[in-house]
Amino acid sequence: MAREFSTVGVVGLGTMGAGIVEVFARNGIDVVAVEISAPALERGRATLKGSTDRAVAKGKLAEADRDALHERVHFAVGLDALHSVDLVIEAVPEHLDLKQRIFAELDRVCRPETVLATNTSSLSVTEISVATSRPNQVIGIHFFNPAPVMKLVEVVRTVVTAPEVVADVEELCARLGKVDVTINDRAGFIANALLFGYLNHAVAMFESHYATREDIDAAMKLGCGLPMGPLALMDLIGLDTAYEILDTMYRRGGRDRRHAPVPLLKQMVTAGLLGRKSGRGFYTYERPGSPVVVPDEATPLATDAALADGARAIAKVGVVGSGTMATGIIEVFAKAGYEVVSVTRGMEKSAKVCEAVKTSLNKGVVRGKLAEADRDAALGRISWSATLDHLADVDLVVEAVVEELSVKKALFASLDEICKPGVVLATTTSSLPVIDVAMATQRPADVVGLHFFNPAPVMPLVEVVRTIRTSPEATATARAVCAALGKTGVVCGDRSGFIVNALLFPYLNDAVKMLEASYSTADDIDHAMKLGCGYPMGPFELLDVVGLDVSLAIQRELYLELREPGFAPAPLLEHLVTAGYLGRKTRRGFRDHSHR
Ligand SMILES: NC(=O)c1ccc[n+]([C@@H]2O[C@H](COP(=O)([O-])OP(=O)(O)OC[C@H]3O[C@@H](n4cnc5c(N)ncnc54)[C@H](O)[C@@H]3O)[C@@H](O)[C@H]2O)c1
Repeated sequence: MAREFSTVGVVGLGTMGAGIVEVFARNGIDVVAVEISAPALERGRATLKGSTDRAVAKGKLAEADRDALHERVHFAVGLDALHSVDLVIEAVPEHLDLKQRIFAELDRVCRPETVLATNTSSLSVTEISVATSRPNQVIGIHFFNPAPVMKLVEVVRTVVTAPEVVADVEELCARLGKVDVTINDRAGFIANALLFGYLNHAVAMFESHYATREDIDAAMKLGCGLPMGPLALMDLIGLDTAYEILDTMYRRGGRDRRHAPVPLLKQMVTAGLLGRKSGRGFYTYERPGSPVVVPDEATPLATDAALADGARAIAKVGVVGSGTMATGIIEVFAKAGYEVVSVTRGMEKSAKVCEAVKTSLNKGVVRGKLAEADRDAALGRISWSATLDHLADVDLVVEAVVEELSVKKALFASLDEICKPGVVLATTTSSLPVIDVAMATQRPADVVGLHFFNPAPVMPLVEVVRTIRTSPEATATARAVCAALGKTGVVCGDRSGFIVNALLFPYLNDAVKMLEASYSTADDIDHAMKLGCGYPMGPFELLDVVGLDVSLAIQRELYLELREPGFAPAPLLEHLVTAGYLGRKTRRGFRDHSHR
Protein backbone atom coordinates (compact mmCIF):
# COMPACT_ATOMS: atom_id res chain seq x y z
CA MET A 1 0.00 0.00 0.00
CA ALA A 2 1.51 3.30 -1.03
CA ARG A 3 1.52 6.09 1.47
CA GLU A 4 -1.04 8.82 0.81
CA PHE A 5 0.29 12.35 0.97
CA SER A 6 -2.69 14.44 2.07
CA THR A 7 -0.92 17.68 2.98
CA VAL A 8 2.03 18.96 1.03
CA GLY A 9 4.32 21.91 1.68
CA VAL A 10 5.87 23.99 -1.09
CA VAL A 11 8.85 26.23 -0.30
CA GLY A 12 9.43 29.18 -2.66
CA LEU A 13 6.58 30.45 -4.81
CA GLY A 14 8.50 31.71 -7.84
CA THR A 15 8.25 30.53 -11.44
CA MET A 16 8.08 26.88 -10.43
CA GLY A 17 6.77 26.89 -6.87
CA ALA A 18 3.54 28.75 -7.65
CA GLY A 19 2.81 26.30 -10.45
CA ILE A 20 3.57 23.31 -8.22
CA VAL A 21 1.14 24.62 -5.59
CA GLU A 22 -1.51 24.79 -8.32
CA VAL A 23 -0.85 21.20 -9.42
CA PHE A 24 -1.39 19.82 -5.91
CA ALA A 25 -4.38 21.97 -5.03
CA ARG A 26 -6.08 21.15 -8.32
CA ASN A 27 -5.82 17.49 -7.46
CA GLY A 28 -7.50 17.81 -4.08
CA ILE A 29 -4.36 17.92 -1.95
CA ASP A 30 -4.01 20.51 0.84
CA VAL A 31 -0.99 22.76 0.42
CA VAL A 32 1.00 24.88 2.81
CA ALA A 33 2.72 27.45 0.57
CA VAL A 34 5.73 29.12 2.11
CA GLU A 35 7.86 32.13 1.15
CA ILE A 36 10.72 34.06 2.65
CA SER A 37 8.90 37.38 3.15
CA ALA A 38 5.43 38.90 3.08
CA PRO A 39 5.94 40.68 -0.29
CA ALA A 40 7.28 37.47 -1.87
CA LEU A 41 4.28 35.60 -0.45
CA GLU A 42 1.93 38.15 -2.02
CA ARG A 43 3.69 37.74 -5.38
CA GLY A 44 3.26 33.98 -5.13
CA ARG A 45 -0.40 34.32 -4.23
CA ALA A 46 -0.91 36.71 -7.17
CA THR A 47 0.79 34.27 -9.56
CA LEU A 48 -1.49 31.46 -8.43
CA LYS A 49 -4.54 33.67 -8.75
CA GLY A 50 -3.50 34.90 -12.21
CA SER A 51 -2.95 31.37 -13.46
CA THR A 52 -6.24 29.97 -12.11
CA ASP A 53 -8.17 33.02 -13.34
CA ARG A 54 -6.75 32.46 -16.82
CA ALA A 55 -7.80 28.80 -16.63
CA VAL A 56 -11.35 29.89 -15.71
CA ALA A 57 -11.40 32.48 -18.54
CA LYS A 58 -10.31 29.80 -21.00
CA GLY A 59 -13.07 27.50 -19.77
CA LYS A 60 -10.56 24.95 -18.47
CA LEU A 61 -11.55 25.32 -14.82
CA ALA A 62 -14.98 25.91 -13.28
CA GLU A 63 -15.29 28.93 -10.98
CA ALA A 64 -16.36 26.75 -8.08
CA ASP A 65 -13.35 24.48 -8.61
CA ARG A 66 -11.07 27.47 -8.63
CA ASP A 67 -12.51 28.68 -5.33
CA ALA A 68 -12.18 25.22 -3.81
CA LEU A 69 -8.61 25.08 -5.10
CA HIS A 70 -7.75 28.34 -3.33
CA GLU A 71 -9.34 27.14 -0.11
CA ARG A 72 -6.94 24.20 -0.10
CA VAL A 73 -3.91 26.52 -0.05
CA HIS A 74 -2.67 27.98 3.21
CA PHE A 75 -0.05 30.73 2.74
CA ALA A 76 2.65 31.45 5.31
CA VAL A 77 6.00 33.17 5.77
CA GLY A 78 8.75 30.92 7.16
CA LEU A 79 9.32 27.19 7.31
CA ASP A 80 7.73 26.70 10.72
CA ALA A 81 4.31 26.44 9.06
CA LEU A 82 5.42 23.08 7.61
CA HIS A 83 5.48 21.23 10.95
CA SER A 84 2.73 18.76 10.09
CA VAL A 85 2.83 18.23 6.31
CA ASP A 86 3.49 14.76 4.80
CA LEU A 87 5.76 15.92 1.99
CA VAL A 88 7.68 19.11 1.28
CA ILE A 89 8.79 20.26 -2.17
CA GLU A 90 11.46 22.89 -2.18
CA ALA A 91 11.58 25.32 -5.14
CA VAL A 92 13.93 28.10 -4.05
CA PRO A 93 16.70 29.51 -6.28
CA GLU A 94 19.25 27.09 -7.69
CA HIS A 95 22.04 27.52 -5.08
CA LEU A 96 23.42 24.52 -3.24
CA ASP A 97 24.19 26.35 0.02
CA LEU A 98 20.71 27.86 0.16
CA LYS A 99 19.04 24.52 -0.49
CA GLN A 100 21.23 22.78 2.07
CA ARG A 101 20.33 25.37 4.68
CA ILE A 102 16.65 24.95 3.93
CA PHE A 103 16.82 21.17 4.11
CA ALA A 104 18.63 21.31 7.46
CA GLU A 105 15.86 23.58 8.71
CA LEU A 106 13.12 21.38 7.24
CA ASP A 107 14.69 18.38 8.93
CA ARG A 108 14.32 20.18 12.25
CA VAL A 109 10.80 21.52 11.65
CA CYS A 110 9.07 18.58 9.96
CA ARG A 111 7.85 15.33 11.50
CA PRO A 112 10.35 12.44 11.29
CA GLU A 113 8.32 10.56 8.64
CA THR A 114 7.90 13.55 6.32
CA VAL A 115 9.45 13.11 2.87
CA LEU A 116 11.60 16.01 1.75
CA ALA A 117 11.84 16.68 -1.99
CA THR A 118 13.74 19.18 -4.10
CA ASN A 119 12.71 20.56 -7.46
CA THR A 120 16.34 21.28 -8.35
CA SER A 121 17.17 21.12 -12.04
CA SER A 122 20.86 20.47 -11.84
CA LEU A 123 22.19 20.33 -8.29
CA SER A 124 23.07 17.05 -6.64
CA VAL A 125 20.06 15.67 -4.74
CA THR A 126 22.56 13.59 -2.80
CA GLU A 127 24.47 16.65 -1.60
CA ILE A 128 21.21 18.31 -0.60
CA SER A 129 20.09 15.18 1.23
CA VAL A 130 23.14 14.95 3.48
CA ALA A 131 22.22 18.29 5.04
CA THR A 132 19.46 16.35 6.83
CA SER A 133 19.46 13.47 9.30
CA ARG A 134 17.16 11.51 6.94
CA PRO A 135 18.86 11.27 3.54
CA ASN A 136 16.88 8.08 2.83
CA GLN A 137 13.70 10.22 2.84
CA VAL A 138 15.09 12.83 0.45
CA ILE A 139 14.23 12.66 -3.24
CA GLY A 140 14.13 14.85 -6.35
CA ILE A 141 10.74 15.67 -7.85
CA HIS A 142 11.55 17.70 -10.92
CA PHE A 143 8.53 19.40 -12.44
CA PHE A 144 8.60 21.15 -15.80
CA ASN A 145 7.68 24.70 -16.61
CA PRO A 146 4.78 25.55 -16.63
CA ALA A 147 4.08 22.91 -13.95
CA PRO A 148 0.28 22.82 -14.42
CA VAL A 149 0.71 22.15 -18.16
CA MET A 150 3.72 19.90 -18.67
CA LYS A 151 2.98 16.23 -18.10
CA LEU A 152 6.44 15.02 -17.15
CA VAL A 153 7.97 14.66 -13.73
CA GLU A 154 11.51 13.38 -13.29
CA VAL A 155 11.76 11.44 -10.03
CA VAL A 156 15.37 11.44 -8.89
CA ARG A 157 16.55 8.80 -6.46
CA THR A 158 19.92 8.97 -4.80
CA VAL A 159 21.91 5.94 -3.75
CA VAL A 160 20.30 6.14 -0.31
CA THR A 161 16.71 7.08 -1.13
CA ALA A 162 14.47 4.35 0.33
CA PRO A 163 12.70 2.27 -2.35
CA GLU A 164 9.32 2.80 -0.63
CA VAL A 165 9.81 6.57 -0.78
CA VAL A 166 10.43 6.26 -4.53
CA ALA A 167 7.32 4.09 -4.91
CA ASP A 168 5.18 6.52 -2.87
CA VAL A 169 6.30 9.48 -4.94
CA GLU A 170 5.69 7.59 -8.20
CA GLU A 171 2.18 6.85 -6.97
CA LEU A 172 1.70 10.52 -6.12
CA CYS A 173 2.75 11.56 -9.65
CA ALA A 174 0.12 9.24 -11.09
CA ARG A 175 -2.48 10.81 -8.79
CA LEU A 176 -1.48 14.24 -10.12
CA GLY A 177 -2.03 13.03 -13.67
CA LYS A 178 1.68 13.24 -14.42
CA VAL A 179 3.94 10.78 -16.21
CA ASP A 180 7.12 10.08 -14.29
CA VAL A 181 10.49 8.79 -15.28
CA THR A 182 12.62 7.59 -12.40
CA ILE A 183 16.34 8.15 -12.76
CA ASN A 184 19.55 8.40 -10.82
CA ASP A 185 21.11 11.59 -9.54
CA ARG A 186 23.08 13.09 -12.42
CA ALA A 187 23.50 16.74 -13.44
CA GLY A 188 20.54 17.87 -15.52
CA PHE A 189 18.78 14.49 -15.26
CA ILE A 190 17.36 13.61 -18.68
CA ALA A 191 15.64 16.65 -20.08
CA ASN A 192 17.87 19.47 -18.93
CA ALA A 193 21.02 17.52 -19.77
CA LEU A 194 19.75 17.44 -23.36
CA LEU A 195 18.16 20.88 -23.40
CA PHE A 196 20.65 23.27 -21.88
CA GLY A 197 23.55 22.73 -24.31
CA TYR A 198 21.09 23.62 -27.04
CA LEU A 199 19.76 26.70 -25.22
CA ASN A 200 23.28 27.97 -24.46
CA HIS A 201 24.30 27.44 -28.09
CA ALA A 202 21.28 29.48 -29.23
CA VAL A 203 22.32 32.31 -26.90
CA ALA A 204 25.85 32.15 -28.37
CA MET A 205 24.37 32.47 -31.87
CA PHE A 206 22.44 35.53 -30.76
CA GLU A 207 25.42 37.03 -28.95
CA SER A 208 27.61 36.71 -32.05
CA HIS A 209 24.97 38.32 -34.28
CA TYR A 210 24.76 35.13 -36.30
CA ALA A 211 21.01 35.66 -36.51
CA THR A 212 18.38 37.79 -34.78
CA ARG A 213 16.40 36.57 -31.76
CA GLU A 214 13.22 36.42 -33.87
CA ASP A 215 14.96 34.40 -36.58
CA ILE A 216 16.60 31.93 -34.18
CA ASP A 217 13.27 31.32 -32.46
CA ALA A 218 11.26 31.11 -35.69
CA ALA A 219 13.80 28.66 -37.14
CA MET A 220 13.40 26.16 -34.28
CA LYS A 221 9.64 26.53 -34.08
CA LEU A 222 9.00 26.19 -37.78
CA GLY A 223 11.91 23.90 -38.65
CA CYS A 224 11.43 21.45 -35.76
CA GLY A 225 7.84 22.05 -34.64
CA LEU A 226 8.91 23.10 -31.14
CA PRO A 227 6.33 24.91 -29.00
CA MET A 228 8.66 27.86 -28.53
CA GLY A 229 12.05 29.04 -29.71
CA PRO A 230 15.13 28.71 -27.47
CA LEU A 231 15.41 32.39 -26.53
CA ALA A 232 11.72 32.68 -25.67
CA LEU A 233 12.18 29.52 -23.59
CA MET A 234 15.16 31.04 -21.76
CA ASP A 235 12.92 33.99 -20.88
CA LEU A 236 10.26 31.61 -19.56
CA ILE A 237 12.76 29.59 -17.50
CA GLY A 238 14.30 32.78 -16.09
CA LEU A 239 17.83 33.81 -17.06
CA ASP A 240 19.10 33.69 -13.46
CA THR A 241 17.83 30.14 -13.07
CA ALA A 242 19.17 29.18 -16.50
CA TYR A 243 22.56 30.64 -15.61
CA GLU A 244 22.75 28.65 -12.39
CA ILE A 245 21.68 25.45 -14.12
CA LEU A 246 24.31 25.87 -16.84
CA ASP A 247 26.98 26.74 -14.31
CA THR A 248 26.18 23.67 -12.21
CA MET A 249 25.99 21.41 -15.24
CA TYR A 250 29.35 22.69 -16.42
CA ARG A 251 30.94 21.93 -13.07
CA ARG A 252 29.14 18.65 -12.38
CA GLY A 253 28.81 17.38 -15.92
CA GLY A 254 32.43 16.93 -16.90
CA ARG A 255 33.24 20.56 -17.77
CA ASP A 256 31.72 20.37 -21.21
CA ARG A 257 32.36 23.81 -22.71
CA ARG A 258 28.92 23.79 -24.23
CA HIS A 259 27.53 24.23 -20.73
CA ALA A 260 29.79 27.13 -19.81
CA PRO A 261 27.24 29.94 -19.65
CA VAL A 262 27.61 32.35 -22.57
CA PRO A 263 29.00 35.66 -21.19
CA LEU A 264 25.92 37.58 -22.36
CA LEU A 265 23.79 35.57 -19.91
CA LYS A 266 25.76 36.72 -16.90
CA GLN A 267 25.58 40.31 -18.11
CA MET A 268 21.82 40.14 -18.54
CA VAL A 269 21.35 38.62 -15.08
CA THR A 270 23.55 41.29 -13.52
CA ALA A 271 21.54 43.96 -15.34
CA GLY A 272 18.31 42.54 -13.92
CA LEU A 273 17.07 41.25 -17.26
CA LEU A 274 15.76 37.93 -15.98
CA GLY A 275 13.16 37.11 -18.63
CA ARG A 276 9.41 37.13 -18.23
CA LYS A 277 9.48 37.41 -14.47
CA SER A 278 11.25 40.78 -14.60
CA GLY A 279 9.41 41.95 -17.73
CA ARG A 280 12.53 41.87 -19.87
CA GLY A 281 15.00 39.27 -21.04
CA PHE A 282 15.76 38.47 -24.66
CA TYR A 283 12.33 39.98 -25.36
CA THR A 284 10.33 42.72 -23.67
CA TYR A 285 7.03 41.84 -21.97
CA GLU A 286 3.94 43.87 -21.25
CA ARG A 287 4.79 43.83 -17.54
CA PRO A 288 6.74 41.59 -15.15
CA GLY A 289 5.27 38.09 -15.18
CA SER A 290 3.26 38.64 -18.33
CA PRO A 291 3.61 36.22 -21.24
CA VAL A 292 2.73 38.98 -23.75
CA VAL A 293 5.69 40.18 -25.83
CA VAL A 294 5.65 43.85 -26.78
CA PRO A 295 7.77 45.49 -29.48
CA ASP A 296 11.05 47.08 -28.42
CA GLU A 297 13.98 48.73 -30.18
CA ALA A 298 15.19 45.38 -31.56
CA THR A 299 11.86 44.34 -33.04
CA PRO A 300 12.16 44.17 -36.82
CA LEU A 301 9.68 46.03 -38.98
CA ALA A 302 7.46 43.30 -40.35
CA THR A 303 5.79 45.30 -43.09
CA ASP A 304 5.95 44.24 -46.72
CA ALA A 305 7.69 47.51 -47.57
CA ALA A 306 10.41 46.79 -45.01
CA LEU A 307 10.89 43.28 -46.33
CA ALA A 308 11.14 44.51 -49.90
CA ASP A 309 13.56 47.32 -49.03
CA GLY A 310 16.44 47.03 -51.50
CA ALA A 311 15.06 43.81 -52.96
CA ARG A 312 15.24 43.23 -56.70
CA ALA A 313 12.12 42.38 -58.68
CA ILE A 314 11.79 38.67 -59.37
CA ALA A 315 9.34 37.33 -61.95
CA LYS A 316 11.09 34.38 -63.56
CA VAL A 317 12.89 31.68 -61.60
CA GLY A 318 15.17 28.88 -62.73
CA VAL A 319 15.31 25.67 -60.69
CA VAL A 320 18.21 23.31 -61.42
CA GLY A 321 17.98 19.67 -60.36
CA SER A 322 15.64 16.70 -60.49
CA GLY A 323 15.52 15.33 -56.95
CA THR A 324 13.00 15.62 -54.13
CA MET A 325 14.01 19.15 -53.19
CA ALA A 326 14.06 20.49 -56.77
CA THR A 327 10.64 18.97 -57.44
CA GLY A 328 9.14 20.53 -54.31
CA ILE A 329 10.75 23.91 -54.98
CA ILE A 330 9.43 24.02 -58.56
CA GLU A 331 5.94 23.42 -57.20
CA VAL A 332 6.30 26.08 -54.51
CA PHE A 333 7.39 28.78 -56.98
CA ALA A 334 4.82 27.88 -59.65
CA LYS A 335 1.98 27.89 -57.11
CA ALA A 336 3.07 31.30 -55.84
CA GLY A 337 2.71 32.75 -59.35
CA TYR A 338 6.32 32.79 -60.54
CA GLU A 339 7.24 31.74 -64.05
CA VAL A 340 9.54 28.73 -63.58
CA VAL A 341 12.20 27.21 -65.83
CA SER A 342 13.11 23.72 -64.67
CA VAL A 343 16.48 22.47 -65.86
CA THR A 344 17.51 18.83 -65.52
CA ARG A 345 20.22 16.73 -67.13
CA GLY A 346 18.03 15.27 -69.89
CA MET A 347 14.44 15.25 -71.12
CA GLU A 348 13.81 11.88 -69.47
CA LYS A 349 14.55 13.38 -66.08
CA SER A 350 12.44 16.41 -66.97
CA ALA A 351 9.51 14.14 -67.75
CA LYS A 352 9.90 12.44 -64.37
CA VAL A 353 10.06 15.71 -62.47
CA CYS A 354 7.05 16.99 -64.43
CA GLU A 355 5.11 13.87 -63.44
CA ALA A 356 6.09 14.27 -59.79
CA VAL A 357 5.00 17.93 -59.71
CA LYS A 358 1.69 17.00 -61.37
CA THR A 359 1.07 14.20 -58.89
CA SER A 360 1.76 16.48 -55.95
CA LEU A 361 -0.49 19.26 -57.31
CA ASN A 362 -3.24 16.70 -58.00
CA LYS A 363 -3.03 15.56 -54.38
CA GLY A 364 -3.71 19.17 -53.39
CA VAL A 365 -6.79 19.17 -55.63
CA VAL A 366 -8.06 15.86 -54.22
CA ARG A 367 -7.62 17.16 -50.67
CA GLY A 368 -9.55 20.29 -51.57
CA LYS A 369 -6.56 22.51 -50.89
CA LEU A 370 -6.06 23.65 -54.49
CA ALA A 371 -8.61 24.57 -57.15
CA GLU A 372 -8.29 22.73 -60.47
CA ALA A 373 -7.87 26.02 -62.27
CA ASP A 374 -5.01 26.99 -59.95
CA ARG A 375 -3.32 23.65 -60.56
CA ASP A 376 -3.57 24.16 -64.30
CA ALA A 377 -2.31 27.72 -64.03
CA ALA A 378 0.65 26.57 -61.90
CA LEU A 379 1.56 23.86 -64.41
CA GLY A 380 1.19 26.36 -67.23
CA ARG A 381 3.83 28.57 -65.61
CA ILE A 382 6.52 25.87 -65.73
CA SER A 383 8.71 25.21 -68.75
CA TRP A 384 10.91 22.13 -68.91
CA SER A 385 14.43 22.19 -70.24
CA ALA A 386 17.56 20.09 -70.33
CA THR A 387 19.97 22.94 -70.91
CA LEU A 388 21.20 25.73 -68.69
CA ASP A 389 21.04 28.10 -71.70
CA HIS A 390 17.36 28.58 -70.95
CA LEU A 391 18.32 30.39 -67.76
CA ALA A 392 19.68 33.39 -69.69
CA ASP A 393 16.71 35.59 -68.82
CA VAL A 394 15.64 34.40 -65.34
CA ASP A 395 15.84 36.74 -62.31
CA LEU A 396 16.67 34.08 -59.73
CA VAL A 397 18.24 30.64 -59.97
CA VAL A 398 17.73 28.03 -57.25
CA GLU A 399 20.22 25.19 -57.46
CA ALA A 400 19.15 21.87 -55.91
CA VAL A 401 21.50 19.29 -57.42
CA VAL A 402 23.47 16.57 -55.65
CA GLU A 403 25.25 17.56 -52.39
CA GLU A 404 28.77 17.55 -53.84
CA LEU A 405 30.93 20.63 -53.81
CA SER A 406 32.68 19.97 -57.15
CA VAL A 407 29.35 19.52 -58.93
CA LYS A 408 27.85 22.63 -57.40
CA LYS A 409 30.95 24.72 -58.13
CA ALA A 410 30.99 23.68 -61.77
CA LEU A 411 27.30 24.49 -62.05
CA PHE A 412 27.73 27.94 -60.52
CA ALA A 413 30.62 28.68 -62.88
CA SER A 414 28.31 27.85 -65.81
CA LEU A 415 25.47 29.94 -64.37
CA ASP A 416 27.92 32.82 -64.10
CA GLU A 417 28.55 32.59 -67.87
CA ILE A 418 24.93 32.19 -68.84
CA CYS A 419 22.82 34.37 -66.52
CA LYS A 420 22.23 38.09 -67.02
CA PRO A 421 23.76 40.56 -64.55
CA GLY A 422 21.81 41.23 -61.33
CA VAL A 423 20.43 37.71 -61.04
CA VAL A 424 20.38 36.24 -57.55
CA LEU A 425 22.01 32.81 -57.53
CA ALA A 426 20.87 30.55 -54.71
CA THR A 427 22.05 27.16 -53.51
CA THR A 428 19.88 24.85 -51.41
CA THR A 429 22.87 23.11 -49.87
CA SER A 430 22.31 21.94 -46.32
CA SER A 431 25.91 21.27 -45.39
CA LEU A 432 28.40 22.86 -47.81
CA PRO A 433 29.81 26.34 -47.25
CA VAL A 434 27.89 28.77 -49.48
CA ILE A 435 31.01 30.89 -49.89
CA ASP A 436 32.76 28.03 -51.75
CA VAL A 437 29.96 27.98 -54.29
CA ALA A 438 29.88 31.79 -54.48
CA MET A 439 33.60 31.98 -55.25
CA ALA A 440 33.12 29.72 -58.28
CA THR A 441 31.46 32.77 -59.87
CA GLN A 442 32.68 36.27 -60.67
CA ARG A 443 29.69 37.66 -58.75
CA PRO A 444 29.83 36.35 -55.17
CA ALA A 445 27.79 39.36 -53.96
CA ASP A 446 24.77 37.89 -55.75
CA VAL A 447 25.05 34.41 -54.25
CA VAL A 448 22.98 33.30 -51.25
CA GLY A 449 21.87 30.07 -49.66
CA LEU A 450 18.16 29.25 -49.74
CA HIS A 451 17.83 26.25 -47.48
CA PHE A 452 14.38 24.78 -47.96
CA PHE A 453 13.14 21.99 -45.69
CA ASN A 454 11.69 18.71 -46.89
CA PRO A 455 8.91 18.50 -48.07
CA ALA A 456 9.30 22.00 -49.52
CA PRO A 457 5.59 22.53 -50.31
CA VAL A 458 4.71 21.82 -46.67
CA MET A 459 7.50 23.14 -44.48
CA PRO A 460 7.03 26.83 -43.65
CA LEU A 461 10.71 27.65 -43.07
CA VAL A 462 13.54 28.73 -45.38
CA GLU A 463 16.99 29.61 -44.09
CA VAL A 464 18.49 32.49 -46.05
CA VAL A 465 22.25 32.14 -45.80
CA ARG A 466 24.39 35.18 -46.37
CA THR A 467 28.10 34.78 -46.85
CA ILE A 468 30.69 37.43 -46.02
CA ARG A 469 30.46 38.47 -49.72
CA THR A 470 26.66 38.49 -50.11
CA SER A 471 25.23 41.96 -50.81
CA PRO A 472 22.40 43.42 -48.72
CA GLU A 473 20.28 43.56 -51.92
CA ALA A 474 20.70 39.85 -52.59
CA THR A 475 19.74 39.06 -48.97
CA ALA A 476 16.73 41.40 -49.15
CA THR A 477 15.67 39.80 -52.42
CA ALA A 478 15.88 36.32 -50.93
CA ARG A 479 13.82 37.40 -47.91
CA ALA A 480 11.20 39.07 -50.08
CA VAL A 481 10.97 35.94 -52.24
CA CYS A 482 10.42 33.75 -49.15
CA ALA A 483 7.62 36.07 -48.01
CA ALA A 484 6.04 35.95 -51.47
CA LEU A 485 6.16 32.14 -51.27
CA GLY A 486 4.26 32.32 -47.98
CA LYS A 487 7.30 31.04 -46.09
CA THR A 488 9.20 32.49 -43.17
CA GLY A 489 12.73 33.32 -44.28
CA VAL A 490 15.27 33.50 -41.47
CA VAL A 491 18.63 35.08 -42.21
CA CYS A 492 21.81 33.56 -40.83
CA GLY A 493 25.54 33.38 -41.39
CA ASP A 494 27.35 30.82 -43.50
CA ARG A 495 28.27 28.26 -40.89
CA SER A 496 27.85 24.53 -40.85
CA GLY A 497 24.27 23.57 -40.05
CA PHE A 498 22.99 27.15 -40.39
CA ILE A 499 20.52 27.60 -37.52
CA VAL A 500 18.30 24.54 -37.37
CA ASN A 501 20.75 21.70 -37.95
CA ALA A 502 23.44 23.35 -35.84
CA LEU A 503 21.07 23.48 -32.89
CA LEU A 504 19.21 20.23 -33.50
CA PHE A 505 21.82 17.60 -34.27
CA PRO A 506 24.15 18.09 -31.29
CA TYR A 507 21.06 17.60 -29.10
CA LEU A 508 20.23 14.35 -30.93
CA ASN A 509 23.84 13.25 -30.61
CA ASP A 510 23.74 13.98 -26.87
CA ALA A 511 20.65 11.80 -26.55
CA VAL A 512 22.57 8.95 -28.19
CA LYS A 513 25.46 9.49 -25.76
CA MET A 514 23.01 9.41 -22.84
CA LEU A 515 21.60 6.10 -24.08
CA GLU A 516 25.08 4.77 -24.64
CA ALA A 517 25.99 5.65 -21.04
CA SER A 518 22.97 3.59 -19.90
CA TYR A 519 21.62 6.54 -17.94
CA SER A 520 18.13 5.95 -19.29
CA THR A 521 16.23 4.09 -21.99
CA ALA A 522 15.28 5.31 -25.47
CA ASP A 523 11.62 5.22 -24.43
CA ASP A 524 12.14 7.30 -21.29
CA ILE A 525 14.36 9.80 -23.09
CA ASP A 526 11.75 10.19 -25.85
CA HIS A 527 9.03 10.58 -23.21
CA ALA A 528 11.01 13.15 -21.28
CA MET A 529 11.51 15.42 -24.29
CA LYS A 530 7.93 15.11 -25.49
CA LEU A 531 6.17 15.45 -22.15
CA GLY A 532 8.68 17.70 -20.39
CA CYS A 533 9.58 20.04 -23.22
CA GLY A 534 6.70 19.69 -25.67
CA TYR A 535 8.80 18.30 -28.53
CA PRO A 536 6.64 16.73 -31.26
CA MET A 537 8.93 13.68 -31.41
CA GLY A 538 11.53 12.29 -29.04
CA PRO A 539 15.18 12.25 -30.20
CA PHE A 540 15.20 8.54 -31.06
CA GLU A 541 11.93 8.73 -32.98
CA LEU A 542 13.33 11.67 -34.92
CA LEU A 543 16.70 10.01 -35.59
CA ASP A 544 14.93 6.97 -37.04
CA VAL A 545 12.85 9.19 -39.31
CA VAL A 546 15.71 11.43 -40.47
CA GLY A 547 18.05 8.49 -41.01
CA LEU A 548 21.05 7.64 -38.87
CA ASP A 549 23.46 7.99 -41.80
CA VAL A 550 22.18 11.47 -42.62
CA SER A 551 22.35 12.45 -38.95
CA LEU A 552 25.88 11.13 -38.58
CA ALA A 553 27.02 13.02 -41.69
CA ILE A 554 25.60 16.31 -40.39
CA GLN A 555 27.09 15.76 -36.95
CA ARG A 556 30.51 15.04 -38.50
CA GLU A 557 30.35 18.27 -40.50
CA LEU A 558 29.51 20.26 -37.38
CA TYR A 559 32.34 18.63 -35.49
CA LEU A 560 34.87 19.20 -38.27
CA GLU A 561 33.95 22.85 -38.70
CA LEU A 562 33.68 23.87 -35.05
CA ARG A 563 36.15 21.35 -33.53
CA GLU A 564 33.98 21.34 -30.43
CA PRO A 565 34.85 18.16 -28.53
CA GLY A 566 31.25 17.83 -27.33
CA PHE A 567 30.11 17.62 -30.97
CA ALA A 568 32.10 14.45 -31.69
CA PRO A 569 29.64 11.89 -33.07
CA ALA A 570 28.47 9.34 -30.50
CA PRO A 571 30.25 6.01 -31.11
CA LEU A 572 26.90 4.21 -30.86
CA LEU A 573 25.58 6.28 -33.77
CA GLU A 574 28.63 5.37 -35.85
CA HIS A 575 28.25 1.68 -35.00
CA LEU A 576 24.58 1.57 -35.93
CA VAL A 577 25.35 3.20 -39.27
CA THR A 578 28.20 0.76 -39.88
CA ALA A 579 25.83 -2.10 -39.06
CA GLY A 580 23.35 -0.83 -41.64
CA TYR A 581 20.74 0.17 -39.06
CA LEU A 582 19.83 3.48 -40.66
CA GLY A 583 16.34 4.03 -39.27
CA ARG A 584 12.89 3.56 -40.75
CA LYS A 585 14.24 3.33 -44.28
CA THR A 586 16.06 0.09 -43.42
CA ARG A 587 13.33 -0.96 -40.96
CA ARG A 588 15.75 -0.78 -38.12
CA GLY A 589 17.52 2.05 -36.35
CA PHE A 590 17.26 2.73 -32.66
CA ARG A 591 14.03 0.78 -32.81
CA ASP A 592 12.91 -2.22 -34.79
CA HIS A 593 10.30 -1.09 -37.35
CA SER A 594 9.93 -4.39 -39.17
CA HIS A 595 6.52 -5.17 -37.65
CA ARG A 596 4.96 -1.76 -38.18
N1 LIG B 1 12.39 27.93 -14.04
C1 LIG B 1 12.25 26.74 -14.55
O1 LIG B 1 11.89 26.60 -15.73
C2 LIG B 1 12.51 25.52 -13.69
C3 LIG B 1 12.03 24.29 -14.12
C4 LIG B 1 12.18 23.17 -13.30
C5 LIG B 1 12.86 23.30 -12.10
N2 LIG B 1 13.35 24.51 -11.71
C6 LIG B 1 14.03 24.59 -10.42
O2 LIG B 1 13.10 25.07 -9.47
C7 LIG B 1 13.77 25.81 -8.46
C8 LIG B 1 13.15 27.19 -8.36
O3 LIG B 1 13.38 27.87 -9.59
P1 LIG B 1 12.46 29.08 -10.07
O4 LIG B 1 12.75 29.30 -11.50
O5 LIG B 1 11.07 28.86 -9.63
O6 LIG B 1 13.09 30.29 -9.23
P2 LIG B 1 12.45 31.72 -8.91
O7 LIG B 1 13.59 32.65 -8.71
O8 LIG B 1 11.42 32.08 -9.90
O9 LIG B 1 11.68 31.49 -7.51
C9 LIG B 1 12.33 31.17 -6.31
C10 LIG B 1 11.47 31.62 -5.14
O10 LIG B 1 12.05 31.15 -3.93
C11 LIG B 1 11.86 32.14 -2.94
N3 LIG B 1 12.82 31.94 -1.85
C12 LIG B 1 14.13 32.29 -1.82
N4 LIG B 1 14.66 31.94 -0.63
C13 LIG B 1 13.67 31.37 0.11
C14 LIG B 1 13.61 30.84 1.43
N5 LIG B 1 14.68 30.82 2.23
N6 LIG B 1 12.42 30.35 1.87
C15 LIG B 1 11.33 30.38 1.09
N7 LIG B 1 11.35 30.89 -0.17
C16 LIG B 1 12.51 31.38 -0.65
C17 LIG B 1 12.04 33.43 -3.70
O11 LIG B 1 11.41 34.51 -2.99
C18 LIG B 1 11.35 33.12 -5.03
O12 LIG B 1 9.99 33.47 -5.02
C19 LIG B 1 15.23 25.82 -8.83
O13 LIG B 1 15.88 24.78 -8.16
C20 LIG B 1 15.20 25.55 -10.32
O14 LIG B 1 16.37 24.96 -10.80
C21 LIG B 1 13.17 25.62 -12.47
